[in-house]
Amino acid sequence: MSPEDTALTVPKAELHLHIEGALEPELAFECARRNGITLPYADVADLRRRYDFSDLQSFLGLYYTGMDVLRTRQDFTDLTDSYLDRARKQGVRHAEIFFDPQAHTTRGVALETVLDGLEASLATSEQRFGVTTRLIACFLRDHGPDSAMATFDELLPHAHKLTGVGLDSAEAGFPPDAFAPVFDRAREAGLRLVAHAGEEGPPEYVWQALDVLGVDRVDHGIRAVEDTALLRRIARDQVPLTVCPLSNVRLRCVDTLDEHCLPRLVDTGVLTTLNSDDPSYFGGYVGDNFHAVRQELGFDDAALREFAANSVRASFLGAGEQDRLL
Ligand code: ADE
Ligand code: ZN
Repeated sequence: MSPEDTALTVPKAELHLHIEGALEPELAFECARRNGITLPYADVADLRRRYDFSDLQSFLGLYYTGMDVLRTRQDFTDLTDSYLDRARKQGVRHAEIFFDPQAHTTRGVALETVLDGLEASLATSEQRFGVTTRLIACFLRDHGPDSAMATFDELLPHAHKLTGVGLDSAEAGFPPDAFAPVFDRAREAGLRLVAHAGEEGPPEYVWQALDVLGVDRVDHGIRAVEDTALLRRIARDQVPLTVCPLSNVRLRCVDTLDEHCLPRLVDTGVLTTLNSDDPSYFGGYVGDNFHAVRQELGFDDAALREFAANSVRASFLGAGEQDRLL
């Protein structure tokens, strides 16, 4: 792709990005070295060769193993700097960044270490990278609602550092409705709400995210195409979907990109955005996702500009801040 390619240059917001999924193998080995940890991989090439997933669960195993090298505040700062630098080169002007508190606190890394490390990078992101940012703390659905509530209690003193909360990790068998009490508390605290739903899980989980959790955006949501009434509802209410095409292929939610439901979502009038999810693991950052849907699904540059404008409209920026990017 040339550096002038619209896929890279169009100003865009990234709304679905797990910061732990932006851990490139080189930085993983560097963090392992300075923290005295031995990774169970021979080298960077050996680790990259394992990025061959059969489903979400097979990815999550590697994702949680990989992030074990993140121990110090500096590790989280370096990780965030690395993402922002790459995102900037792909036209990202605003990023709403997910992190997984429980994935760190359960292995003995203090929440303050994580937050201080992220914040140290984000505080100067606009000056250094031209990228404004927001933070969204995600609950791991496979850790259950009680753990989510305990995590929320820990997050509450830091609520001013957050824009919202989300729900992620293993989906099938972990319906969203169990998390209604913690989402209610987050709403009362003035936080915005998002949830992964309809990535691997059924359309029913998307209904629950909308009707029980009351989310502002649905992350993925692609299985909504299996339910016409649901699709109509999402289009009518203009609930944004944060779609991650390269992720969907890598995790085999779709067989090939040319079979992706993205054209159907757009044709139905859904407010659709393009995102990278876990770019280090899935073969590309957000501009690469823009490029891929043009190559494989026939979207033209005007359509890419529309996806970019959607990302700004679907962001949690205020109207004035959105206008700056539109
Ligand atoms: N955590 C990181 N990436 C994820 C994904 N694609 N789905 C659910 N949880 C995740
Ligand atoms: Zn995700």
